[in-house]
Amino acid sequence: MNGPSTEIINEIRTLRANLRRWQHSYYIEGTPEVSDLEFDRHFDRLLQLEEQYPSLKTEDSPTMRVGSDLSSDLPEVPHGIPVLSLDKAYSLEEVHSWIEKTIRNAGMDLSFGVEEKIDGVSVVLYYEEGVLKRGVTRGNGYVGNDVTANIRTIGSVPLSLSLPMTIAVRGEIFLPKGKFEELNRALDSLYANPRNLAAGTLRRVKSRDVAKVPLDIFSYEGFLDAGRGENLRALSGRGMPESQREMMDLLRDLGFKTNPRTLFFDNVSIQDLESYIRTSTEERAGLGYEIDGLVLKVNELKPREALGYTGHHPRWALAYKFESPEAASTVEQIDVQVGRTGRITPVARIRPVRVGGSTVSNVTLHNQDYVDILELAVGDKVAVSKRGDVIPAVERVLEKNEEGAPVWRMPGVCPACGTALRLVGAHHFCPNRLCPEQVKGRIRFFAAKDQMDIDSLGPETIDVLIGKGLVSSVADIYSFDAEVLGSEPGFGQKKIALMKKGIEESAGRPYERVLPSLGIPDLGQKMTELLIDAGIDNVDQLLDIASRHDTGALTAIHGIGEKTAESVIAELNTPEVRTLIRRLKEAGLSFSARPRQEEGIPQIFKGTVWCVTGSFQSFNPRSKAMDEVKKRGGKAVSAVSGNTTHLLAGEGAGTKLSRAQQLGIPVITEEKFKDILAQGAWS
Ligand code: IVH
Repeated sequence: MNGPSTEIINEIRTLRANLRRWQHSYYIEGTPEVSDLEFDRHFDRLLQLEEQYPSLKTEDSPTMRVGSDLSSDLPEVPHGIPVLSLDKAYSLEEVHSWIEKTIRNAGMDLSFGVEEKIDGVSVVLYYEEGVLKRGVTRGNGYVGNDVTANIRTIGSVPLSLSLPMTIAVRGEIFLPKGKFEELNRALDSLYANPRNLAAGTLRRVKSRDVAKVPLDIFSYEGFLDAGRGENLRALSGRGMPESQREMMDLLRDLGFKTNPRTLFFDNVSIQDLESYIRTSTEERAGLGYEIDGLVLKVNELKPREALGYTGHHPRWALAYKFESPEAASTVEQIDVQVGRTGRITPVARIRPVRVGGSTVSNVTLHNQDYVDILELAVGDKVAVSKRGDVIPAVERVLEKNEEGAPVWRMPGVCPACGTALRLVGAHHFCPNRLCPEQVKGRIRFFAAKDQMDIDSLGPETIDVLIGKGLVSSVADIYSFDAEVLGSEPGFGQKKIALMKKGIEESAGRPYERVLPSLGIPDLGQKMTELLIDAGIDNVDQLLDIASRHDTGALTAIHGIGEKTAESVIAELNTPEVRTLIRRLKEAGLSFSARPRQEEGIPQIFKGTVWCVTGSFQSFNPRSKAMDEVKKRGGKAVSAVSGNTTHLLAGEGAGTKLSRAQQLGIPVITEEKFKDILAQGAWS
């Protein structure tokens, strides 16, 4: 092949210059200069030329952001600077005395910067002569993991700088809150908070997967060797920064994204600080990213050096931490649970501790990846939270155990049936459908409030039925002889009668409830609705589609993707599911949807989108309220977004309520909602 011509070299140069400028205006300034289409056209042309002329590829080319499919196992690398933590304060008094002490120790007047403490993942970006060489996680402060390929995918990390400087820059990688909610919903709420999802993403082995997650960064500290010739030359026009303010200006000019909400005080008074802390606390919920405090920093760089460092933190900075619903406890044991789909979930049994108004003793750890991110071992002291969510989460390890217990590892076989576990994506699964724990899980799921809502058939009763050998599959619920339980303790005639009545009543539930209760992965209430809306409104039609492997019939429906279609069809073709459906049909359960609007209910909610949160007197579970909305032509969603038109708020409504209020979405009480239903009209 011929070598590249000058024309090609120039074209590549121009393409790169344009793409760099556009990426900067898009990611750093937030003001796109060109359309996505225009950007992609240039990007694809550059990719094509670089493929054709590999010798012209460079590590700072904008194409390096797309990530690769190669697995890298995040090697450990030593840091070029000590990556220290921060000293912490929890009250204004502590902050005040720290300021006084610091001024006293410096022996001179100082000015201070106050900035937000971003709740993300700490990284150091190493540049040599203006080119990003390495991105490294904090690790233990001296050695971190090399995550360069992943960091390159983050649009707000400059791959090359506007000046050829050799510099280390500390920053915090974060995932914007809105994006977190969206992504986490798709991941079955696997992550407790944006930080854990960002940390998990950054440790992904395929950078192409990382590129799909819109991570962002604020850079907050620059470390540059003033003795290096390239730095002196590069800065000859402006001189070395002498304060944090000048350093931030330099970082911005070099192409880094810095937090615009940073303030500098010449004479920081306790009143100034107090008002900054107050406004910041008030505005916190409305920010697009999570913060967990504020950081106070000495502005002048020379006195910083004189103040010095402990092994843990610099003496020139202090974190003021917001109070958070968090508590410390110790992990006493880690058990694994087998879910109805065979998914294996590790659960930490912790010493019981009060968090956010209740006592927590069991905390889900989701999967092995999550445990690895936390580097969690039995015996570790951990921070447990119950943030906006009601589900408790292990946030991080506070202190490692003293026995030297290693990071917890998933067992090789299912604890319930001994079958070898299989890893699918991030989760381990027990592949044995007859595994007793899976069977139990499926029966419990079927009978639960949110599914068939069978009165008097709770988890304990189900355990007895299984233990007695009366029930060993979902369909057995409708055929077992309840009378034989008469001799069982706790099963009086009254209880047996109630149970029979509950089972009988459940047999009349509509198709919209029956189909999702089968527990077929992905075939939940939402997909059932999509199918019915698209005219696939009975199970025979669905089974027919499955028999023909007609994924197209499903993917033609907006909202159903290829993967979902394939997995649902595969499930519907298993003999177990076929037998289950046949037996439930024989028991008289409804397997086709009633024609819509049969009952002639006025469609008063047409065009409205409702989010239902909290608990209700008359709608328990709350899906009953959602059913009422849907029956009247409205849409019911699980999260508050810009599209939500109403929030139905019950007792104990939390973050969804505050979010709705922020967005100006009308909030409807249970009483008002019942009035509307009763009147069949809006007042
Ligand atoms: S300064 C030597 N500034 O908080 C400089 N840290 O709890 C020390 N963090 O490890 C860091 N936002 O990961 C600094 N604006 C900010 C920060 C920040 C978040 C993190 C950082 C640090 C941790 C300490």
